[in-house]
Amino acid sequence: MFVDRVLSGMRPTGMLHLGHYQGVLKNWVRLQHEHECLFFVADWHALTTHYDDVAVIEQNVWDMVIDWIAAGVDPSRAALFIQSQVPEHAELHLLLSMMTPLGWLERVPTYKDQQEKLTEKDLSTYGFLGYPLLQSADILIYRANHVPVGEDQVPHIEFTREIARRFNHLFGREPGFEDKAEAAIKKLGSKKAKLYDDLRKRFQEQGDDEALEQARALIVDSQNIALGDRERLFGYLEGGGKVILPEPQALLTEASKMPGLDGNKMSKSYNNTIAMRDDADTVSKKIRTMPTDPARVRRTDPGDPANCPVWQFHLVYSDDGRRAWVTDGCKSAGIGCLECKQPIIDAVLAEQGPMRERAQPYLEDPTLVRNIVADGCEKARDLARDTMRDVREAMGLSYT
Ligand code: TRP
Ligand code: SF4
Repeated sequence: MFVDRVLSGMRPTGMLHLGHYQGVLKNWVRLQHEHECLFFVADWHALTTHYDDVAVIEQNVWDMVIDWIAAGVDPSRAALFIQSQVPEHAELHLLLSMMTPLGWLERVPTYKDQQEKLTEKDLSTYGFLGYPLLQSADILIYRANHVPVGEDQVPHIEFTREIARRFNHLFGREPGFEDKAEAAIKKLGSKKAKLYDDLRKRFQEQGDDEALEQARALIVDSQNIALGDRERLFGYLEGGGKVILPEPQALLTEASKMPGLDGNKMSKSYNNTIAMRDDADTVSKKIRTMPTDPARVRRTDPGDPANCPVWQFHLVYSDDGRRAWVTDGCKSAGIGCLECKQPIIDAVLAEQGPMRERAQPYLEDPTLVRNIVADGCEKARDLARDTMRDVREAMGLSYT
């Protein structure tokens, strides 16, 4: 709502695979051309579930950032940084924790799900319960308005919106708010001020959401008013106090259609992945040994792509013409499975070519990645510090 800003984070799971590329990273690459973007490694989040396995985190962090760059995430367009290097996330998390009802955290669906799924670990920890709130702090500290996430994370964004609303409600009040808001309206100039008044009335009296959106856009377009007044104008629209932490929106990332080598979803835990940086021989071998339609015992047995994981790859990598060739050839036993797999091998290698090229300089000189991340951290810290100044002030902790 303040500026057009996208933020997203990923746990440091190490080398990424083509599922990450097709799902999340291609989306990031597109977004970096359309918005201001911040992407970070959620290393503290990794600790909420892997607190007993910290040795791998650092290497995983660097490998993952290299894979982001390999995918085409451009450090000159997007700030890339590490969560723990911006300690303000922790400060905001702490302050938000004071006003977060326990029941809200216990009701987050991933809480019970994960506890039930990861039974080999003791997840009855304070950190694990609080992790959605840490995620809220990650988002709110940058006043990000768009958060690209998968379906499973949408409840966390909803939760973040509730936290922001509660925060603004509790701490956005200031003495003389109405007078200050009215004064801020005048500063818009008479034409815009009248429009603001009309739109506000339409929203408050008739619940007209479109009027609310238009009024917000009007504030966003009014570049020449002070930040405090902007916050008042946003808050006054909805009847509350100042908006100190704007509510973010989830930008739903479509689930990747990338299948794994065995036909299940591609995932490290299923051991069915092709890594973004697997070399050509590994890729060829992995695809050549993929299972196919079990009906095709001999080369002369006809098969059905519907029963074959290789077909799923053709859905990602092949055009209509080649798909027709596969379907006809498979059903008539006109082509062999290795023949059918070759275009997939070629397509994956072609996709990986530019990735390998982009990653190469960083593999040769690791200080390059360190420098990119240092720059990203600095940018993130500047933004985070600004928010924390307002948050501390709102909570009576500025001691000036
Ligand atoms: N919780 C996310 C995940 O497990 C990662 C994450 C942490 C995140 N903080 C975030 C995503 C902030 C978006 C915004 O995938
Ligand atoms: Fe699968 Fe292709 Fe073999 Fe048919 S020909 S079973 S689609 S690999």
